Amino acid sequence: RVSIVDLLRRPAEIIGADNNAAHSGIPLPVDLYRPQRENSHGVELGERKALQTLTSAIAAERKASPAINTSTAEQTNAVITAAQRGFKAWNGTPAAQRAAILDKAADLLEQRRAHFLALLQSEGGKTLDDALSEVREAIDFCRYYAALGQQLFGKGETMPGPTGESNVLELRGRGAFVAISPWNFPLAIFLGQITAALMAGNAVIAKPAELTPRIAAEAIVLLHQAGVPETALHLVQGDGAVGAALVSHPAIAGVVFTGSTEVARSIHRTLAAKDGPIVPLIAETGGINAMVVDATALPEQVADDVVTSAFRSAGQRCSALRLLFVQDDVADRMIEMIAGAARELKIGDPSEPSTQIGPVIDAEAKQRLDAHIARMKQEARVHLAAEAPAGNFVAPHIFELSAASQLTEEVFGPILHVVRYRAERLGDVLAAIEATGFGLTLGIHSRIDDTIEHVIDRLQVGNIYVNRNMIGAVVGVQPFGGSGLSGTGPKAGGPHYLTRFATEQTITINT
Ligand code: NAD
Ligand code: ALA
Repeated sequence: RVSIVDLLRRPAEIIGADNNAAHSGIPLPVDLYRPQRENSHGVELGERKALQTLTSAIAAERKASPAINTSTAEQTNAVITAAQRGFKAWNGTPAAQRAAILDKAADLLEQRRAHFLALLQSEGGKTLDDALSEVREAIDFCRYYAALGQQLFGKGETMPGPTGESNVLELRGRGAFVAISPWNFPLAIFLGQITAALMAGNAVIAKPAELTPRIAAEAIVLLHQAGVPETALHLVQGDGAVGAALVSHPAIAGVVFTGSTEVARSIHRTLAAKDGPIVPLIAETGGINAMVVDATALPEQVADDVVTSAFRSAGQRCSALRLLFVQDDVADRMIEMIAGAARELKIGDPSEPSTQIGPVIDAEAKQRLDAHIARMKQEARVHLAAEAPAGNFVAPHIFELSAASQLTEEVFGPILHVVRYRAERLGDVLAAIEATGFGLTLGIHSRIDDTIEHVIDRLQVGNIYVNRNMIGAVVGVQPFGGSGLSGTGPKAGGPHYLTRFATEQTITINT
């Protein structure tokens, strides 16, 4: 077979459509969709000023009325009934029309970019860089699923066959689909789930994380303004108990969930036990993500990529690096460079454009991370324990473990764990990564093709990054999601995602 390393070294255009078609049979709609990374601009002075005013206004509004009402059980039940009714008309709307509405939503997001940036900063604690990439990702989800959906749902697929009859395979929506999302991508993941389910013809009941209700409420208004009928898209606010009530309802047609492994398991159990039809669960969860760095890696590049992977977004990304394996010959130098670069990161107020690390999401998250830091200070060698300002801030920390098994769960913050390995024990490193049970992201830094090939072949991990950082998957270009404890697939932003939201019908006509 073609070596994966050779494939990766080919120019980007060659890797594009033809490689994708070979895997999935669905060519990337490159003529219809271009990710924002290729054509977006930064924040100019005028927008930055408007942004600061907006951020302060939103912060003041949140202070004045901190609570968003939780939906009651009666409201939740009523919403499911309304969504069931809304489903029929929406599923009957031509795919091209549904796609045009999602494209319109993308246009509106572009027009209201400053407003959503301000919301992400004030409610989500995002730095300007993180808020910008999140708005871009949200726009990409709308446009990518619109383009892909037109291909998949536009018309049925004629099946070849010798029966003398005419056979067509069609994809249709399933019904009232529940979408439950986390606080760490309160716009992009929230909209990604919803737009995929809508494009497939479903009515959607969206339940955002309880920590980011305003962003969700405004995104729903935007989708309605873009043309999604109110009967086809419903918002339910509340905490885990509200989510649990939704997924146990007998009338729902499917669940898309992004969040912790523990909650994914509980939803899985609920769906298995509930009355009503057997429905699919699409679950995308966390990971104890590793990077392997051997002695041939370029030290400056490693330092840069490790700092980005472990500390950007205050480590609050499911894709973030948690466990760094460094070959012992180069470990001292690498760790020193990484710690040096991490020490320079600017931590503080996210509305300040030069800030690189903002707050963690709330006081509870800070408490959990501080407890982990206290434990690590007892059990591990401390390479970096930076000081954080007052508030919900956690500064970058680097701890060296004697064995990877000391890290038993996903630690969702800017804390990096390092383990040294001897070159001849690479097999033990791969076994340790496998033993975590997760399979979300993996980084490899090496200039030895055989090592890269070997690691890729040996591990079942959803997104593998070679000689670069391991965060920030681009919609439609780097389909994202893991396996094992990290989720069920299919990958968000990839060519197979929409079909899992649909049901299939084969129509045979005696001609
Ligand atoms: P969480 O699991 O605590 O909550 C996620 C959502 O589920 C929230 O809306 C919450 O209200 C709801 N929920 C909680 N209990 C529920 C229940 N019993 N039934 C139904 N819904 C329930 O996760 P979080 O703290 O919001 O997010 C962080 C987690 O998300 C991390 O583990 C991170 O790795 C993961 N994540 C994964 C991806 C991915 O694409 N794989 C992306 C972002 C975040
Ligand atoms: N899709 C996000 C990333 O790749 C979580 O970082």
